[in-house]
Amino acid sequence: MKISSTCLVLLTARVYGVTATVVPNTASVNPSGGGRILTPQNNYNGWVNPEDLAPMPQCIAQQDQSTWLSAMTKCTGKLCTSHFGFICTHHQWLTQLSCLSTGFSSDVIKGYFPYCGRSVLAKAQLYQWIRNVTGRTWLVDVGDTNGLENLSPASLTEGYAAVSVIHKAPTCLTSSISALSMERFQHVMASCSFTSTTQHTGNAARPWEYNESLLSMTALGFETVGYNLTRRSIGYGEYFDKGCFCSTFTMDPKQDPCSGPEQIDSTRERLWMNATCGPKSLPKNWTDKLKTTEFAYIPTEDWHWPMCVTDMPKQVTELTDQCATDACELDSSGYCKVLKRSVDRDCFCRNISYDSCGGSCQIFETRIDFVKWLHDLCGSMRDWHGLPDNWRQLAAPTPLDMIPWRWTIKPSNESNTPPIIRLGSIKATEKCPSNRWKLGTFALVNMATFLAAFLSQRTGIRRIVRGFLWQPHQWCWFSRGILIAVLQLLANWFNAFLVQKTLGYEDVPVIQLMLLWCSMPRLAWLATLLIGLQPFEAIDFSTAASSFFVEMILQGFSSYYMIITVNYGREHNFYLGGLESAERGRSAKIMYAGALLWLITISVAFVRFLQATRKMNRVTGSGSFDLLKRQRSKQTISNIAEKVMAQLNEHFSWLGEKNWVHYWEDKSRDSEETFLISSERGNYTVYGTLPVQSQNSRVSRKAFANLYAVTTISMPLLWVAQWLFWGGFVGLSSEEFCPPKLGVLAAVWIAFSLGGATFGATL
Ligand SMILES: *[C@@H]1O[C@H](CO)[C@@H](O)[C@H](O)[C@H]1NC(C)=O
Ligand SMILES: *[C@@H]1O[C@H](CO)[C@@H](O)[C@H](O)[C@H]1NC(C)=O
Ligand SMILES: *[C@@H]1O[C@H](CO)[C@@H](O)[C@H](O)[C@H]1NC(C)=O
Ligand SMILES: *[C@@H]1O[C@H](CO)[C@@H](O)[C@H](O)[C@H]1NC(C)=O
Ligand SMILES: *[C@@H]1O[C@H](CO)[C@@H](O)[C@H](O)[C@H]1NC(C)=O
Ligand SMILES: *[C@@H]1O[C@H](CO)[C@@H](O)[C@H](O)[C@H]1NC(C)=O
Ligand SMILES: *[C@@H]1O[C@H](CO)[C@@H](O)[C@H](O)[C@H]1NC(C)=O
Repeated sequence: MKISSTCLVLLTARVYGVTATVVPNTASVNPSGGGRILTPQNNYNGWVNPEDLAPMPQCIAQQDQSTWLSAMTKCTGKLCTSHFGFICTHHQWLTQLSCLSTGFSSDVIKGYFPYCGRSVLAKAQLYQWIRNVTGRTWLVDVGDTNGLENLSPASLTEGYAAVSVIHKAPTCLTSSISALSMERFQHVMASCSFTSTTQHTGNAARPWEYNESLLSMTALGFETVGYNLTRRSIGYGEYFDKGCFCSTFTMDPKQDPCSGPEQIDSTRERLWMNATCGPKSLPKNWTDKLKTTEFAYIPTEDWHWPMCVTDMPKQVTELTDQCATDACELDSSGYCKVLKRSVDRDCFCRNISYDSCGGSCQIFETRIDFVKWLHDLCGSMRDWHGLPDNWRQLAAPTPLDMIPWRWTIKPSNESNTPPIIRLGSIKATEKCPSNRWKLGTFALVNMATFLAAFLSQRTGIRRIVRGFLWQPHQWCWFSRGILIAVLQLLANWFNAFLVQKTLGYEDVPVIQLMLLWCSMPRLAWLATLLIGLQPFEAIDFSTAASSFFVEMILQGFSSYYMIITVNYGREHNFYLGGLESAERGRSAKIMYAGALLWLITISVAFVRFLQATRKMNRVTGSGSFDLLKRQRSKQTISNIAEKVMAQLNEHFSWLGEKNWVHYWEDKSRDSEETFLISSERGNYTVYGTLPVQSQNSRVSRKAFANLYAVTTISMPLLWVAQWLFWGGFVGLSSEEFCPPKLGVLAAVWIAFSLGGATFGATL
C-alpha cells in the first residue's frame, strides 16, 4: 500500500516534471542490464527468486497493490537452498511459479482491469506480465487480449501527445475532477501516460522482495509502459494516449471548472480540450466568447491606427486601453501558447463609427485610409453599422476630392456650412442646368467670340494699311492687346460678380471664379490664324500681334488653374492610376489630361516662341534700323541669315514652318514685282538695294513663319486642352458646378467680345 502511493507519486512527479532529476536517474538504470541477467536465474524445482520475476507493470503500480501482493505472497515461502547433509546451511525466500499461475486468476485481474484496460499500451504490458508468469493468453475473459500481441501505431486510435502540453492547460482544469470517472485530472493523465521506451523506476535490479517485518512481498520498482510495444520508436520523452484520456476525462458543461470571473482561463481550458480531444468533447457553443488573437482580439503590438489618428477624439483613442484584455495566441496544434495583451475587436467596434472622427478623417486620402481601416477592423462584425451606406464611394476619391480647389459654385442652403461637405450631403438641385446645357453654352460663347473676332479682322484688314514686321512706332498693337484683354478680364470679373450677387452664392470667391473663367476655351485665336491665309505682305501684323498678345495674356491667367490642377493631380497620384475605381473618374481623367496637355503645350510653345523671336531680332534688329551699316556688312548678314535659316530649318521642320514659307511665297509671287518695301505712313524710307531687300524679306518671312507655325500648332492644342479641362470639370463637378443664370453670363461674354472686337478694329 505504501509503495503503491510512492510509486504513484513518483510517476506523477515525473510526469509533471516537478522533480525532473528523477527521469535521468531512472533512465541511467540500464533496463536491459542489471543483475538479473548477469546472475543466472536460479530455478529450484519450480521455485524462483522473487527478484527474478518480471517487474510490476505500470498500471498496477498506479493502483492499490494489496490484492496483487497478497497473491504473490501466497506463493512465496522460505526454502532451504543449500544443504550440508541434513543440516540446511542457507534459507531463502522463493516464489513458486506454478502457484503464481493459479494465484493470478482472472478474479484477481478483474479488479485491476478497468484501470489497466483504458490504455491499449498499459493493457498490453499487463498482458505480457500475466502471460510470462502464468502462461495464460487472456486476462479476465477469453478473447480480451486480441490484437495485443501485434500492436502498431494505429492501435492508439486517437493518437498521442506529449505530456508537457499539460502546461498549456489552466490550473482550474488540471486540478479538476472528471465528471465521468470522478478521478482527478492528473490521475487520468497518469493512467494514460507512457514513455518512449520501457523504463524501470526504483530498484531495477531487485523489482521484488519479501519483507519479513511486513510478512509480505513488496515491489521495489516497476516498469513503465513503452511506446516500443508497437515496434516503433518515437523521440525520448513522456506521452499520453489521447483516446484513453479523452474517453476517461470528461467535463460537465453545467459545472465548467474554469467558468470564473477570469474569462481567459475558460478560453485556455476550452482550447486545451479542443486541441486534445477535439470539438466533440465540448458543448456546441464552445467557441463563443473565445479570447484568441485569431480574429476577435488584436494583439496590441499588431494594432495600428489610421493616418488621421491625430484628429481622433480622445474617447476613441482611449478605447484601445478600455478594450484591452488578455487573449490567447494559438500554437500550431491549437493550444494557447502565450497570453497577449490585446484589443477586443467587438468592444472597440461597438464604440466607433465613421462619424466618431471628423477633421482629416473625412478628407480625401486620410478619409480613404480611415474608411479602409474601419472596414478591415469592423466590417465583418455582425450587427455593426458604423460605416455609411455609401462607404465604398468614400473609400475612393469622391468628385469633391478630385476638384483641385476647395470652393464650388452652387447655392449653399445654410450659409454657415463650408462648401466642402461630405458626399452624402450633396443634394440634387433641380435648378442646376444639365452638363450638356452648360457645355452647350460655352460652345455658343466660343462661336460668338470667333465670329466677333473674325468679322472685326475682316473690317480691320480692309482699313488698316499694310504694315511691316514689328515697326518701332507701331506700339498700338500693344495697347490694343492690353485693352482687349482687360475687356475680357472685365467680362470674367463681371460674371463672377454676377454669380456672387445671386442669392445663395454669397460664398463664391469672385477673384477665384474670375481666374477660373479665364481658363475657359476661346475661339478668337482661329480668327488670328486665318490671317495667315493671306499673302504674306498683306498680313496685318498689328492685328495679328494684338490678337496674339490678348491670347498670351489670357493664357497667362488661365495658367493659374491649369498649374494648380496639374500639381494637385501630381500630389495625389492622379496621373499614375489614382483615379481608378473613383466615381466619375473618367471625367476627372479628362480634366487632368486637359490640364497636363495645356501645360506641356504652353511650355513647348513658350520655348519655341523665345527661340523664334530671338532669331528674328537678330536678323531684323540688326537690319531694319541701320540699313547703311547693314549694306556694308551685307556679306556677313547674308551669312548669318543663311546660318539662321539652316538652324531654323533644322529646329522647326517638325512644326511645318516650311509649308508656311512656301505658302506665302506662292501667294506673294504674283505681287512680288510690284511690291514696294515702304510703309505707307511714310516715315520709314528704304535705302536698300533689291538683293538686300529681298534677302531681308525672305529672312523675316522665314522667322515669322516660325512664329506662325508655333502658334498654328499650339493654339488649337491649347484650345483642345482647355475644352478637355472644362468638359472633364463640368462632368466631374456636376451638381457642384451650378452657375446661375447661365444665359446671362453667356450674353455678357458675347457682348464683351463683340465690344472688344469692334473696339480693336476701330483703334
Ligand atoms: C518471463 O520473462 C523472463 C525474463 O523477464 C524470461 O526469462 C522468461 O522466459 C519469460 N517467461 C515466459 C513464460 O515468457
Ligand atoms: C520492510 O518494510 C519496512 C516498512 O516499509 C521497512 O522499514 C523495512 O526496511 C523493510 N525491510 C527490508 C528488509 O527491506
Ligand atoms: C522496448 O524497449 C525496452 C528498453 O529499450 C526493451 O527492453 C524492450 O525489449 C523493448 N520492447 C519491444 C517490444 O521492443
Ligand atoms: C478545434 O480543433 C479542431 C481539430 O481538432 C481544429 O480544426 C479547430 O481549428 C480547433 N478550433 C479552434 C477554435 O482552435
Ligand atoms: C453555451 O450555452 C449555454 C446555454 O445554452 C450557456 O449556459 C453557456 O454559458 C454557453 N457557453 C458559452 C461559452 O457561451
Ligand atoms: C461602448 O459602447 C457600449 C454601448 O454600445 C457601452 O456600454 C460601453 O460602455 C462603451 N465602452 C466604452 C469603453 O466606451
Ligand atoms: C434649406 O433647404 C430647406 C429644404 O431643403 C429649406 O426648407 C430651407 O428653407 C433652406 N434654407 C435656406 C437658408 O435656404
